[in-house]
Amino acid sequence: MRDSQATVRTLLTRAAAATLLALAAIPGAHAQQPKLKVGLMLPATGTFATVGTAISNGFRLAVAEQGGKFAGREIEFFTVDDESDPAKAPENANKLVKRDQVDVLVGTVHSGVAMGMAKVARDNNTLLIIPNAGADEITGPLCAPNIFRTSFTNWQPGYATGKMVAERKHRTVVTLAWKYAAGEQSVAGFKEAFEAGGGKVIKELTLPFPNVEFQPFLTEIAALKPDAVYVFFSGGGAVKFVKDYAAAGLKASIPLYAAGFLTDGTLEAQGDAAQGIMTVLHYADALDNPRNRTFRAAYNKAYKMDPDVFAVQGYDAAQLLDAGVTAVRGDMSRRADLVKAMETARIDSPRGPFVLSKAHNPVQDMYVRRVEGTDNKVIGIAIKGLADPARGCRL
Ligand code: BEZ
Repeated sequence: MRDSQATVRTLLTRAAAATLLALAAIPGAHAQQPKLKVGLMLPATGTFATVGTAISNGFRLAVAEQGGKFAGREIEFFTVDDESDPAKAPENANKLVKRDQVDVLVGTVHSGVAMGMAKVARDNNTLLIIPNAGADEITGPLCAPNIFRTSFTNWQPGYATGKMVAERKHRTVVTLAWKYAAGEQSVAGFKEAFEAGGGKVIKELTLPFPNVEFQPFLTEIAALKPDAVYVFFSGGGAVKFVKDYAAAGLKASIPLYAAGFLTDGTLEAQGDAAQGIMTVLHYADALDNPRNRTFRAAYNKAYKMDPDVFAVQGYDAAQLLDAGVTAVRGDMSRRADLVKAMETARIDSPRGPFVLSKAHNPVQDMYVRRVEGTDNKVIGIAIKGLADPARGCRL
């Protein structure tokens, strides 16, 4: 009796296995796959809150466009507000990696926080996609097979702006930036190209992140009388700086230049004070390509507002992940194949198509933009296909 029961059970098990195999052979038929866990670590509070929201919106839009699934695996989000606080980065990243056991970590905005995330990702061999933070080190000396970026290095827009400002025949510049990796590296990139083009940075002013007490610096700039000013600010700090610069009466006398974060996602709030400011960035609202037009329409429909560069970078982070997950048919244990597919992906971005460098950072065009109304209008290209030098990366 017992033997015949065992035989029946064996036959049933074999039949079930055969059915599963048969299902696997039928295109489009999938056994229920576990959800793909995505950990979004972004700022939801503080000066970069709007930036975090734009990235999250962009990422979620790309997921929604794929029916909420990559390679048949439903995307499940886990979120943490990183507060743009580097001191809390390891604990916050570990909440997602160790507690929530995410398949992929996505974040963040602030370079210092991203450095903490990169360490956790390296220690745990977690896949990390950075949709903004430009810390040069992450795709430089700290580059790793499991770490990708869909935004920029701080060097890239800084360098491209320095070239453009030198070409406009300005000879002396004062810089002003928040004193942390993004500000310092943006200024270093600017200075490298500006001085190679014959200019001279005569003073480098800094203030702690996220301070916005700009008045003493504006007074000093007025006294120094440079040909031009270069700054790095973003989010809420960028809105205040642009208004303060105009209110101090400097806008008419000393041209203001910046990496384009100064005027992205901020123009409604900056109003008249921003009109005419020239910046350089790898995206512009009015980029005239079909992909950008479709993206902007879809984003607008979903969120009832216009996207900015941060939304694009979030959207592209999801596109890059999709390229990897689709290549391995959702099997994240095939890490080498996943990484290879992500490394060789050509991302059809609203900024224009781009590929990744060997160090896993976008190789991209740098657009010269001028503020007109609530748009950053493209008026030229500072550098085509600019790759970060990735100094110190050994991949
Ligand atoms: C950064 O911290 O890397 C960063 C923040 C905002 C805009 C651009 C870069």
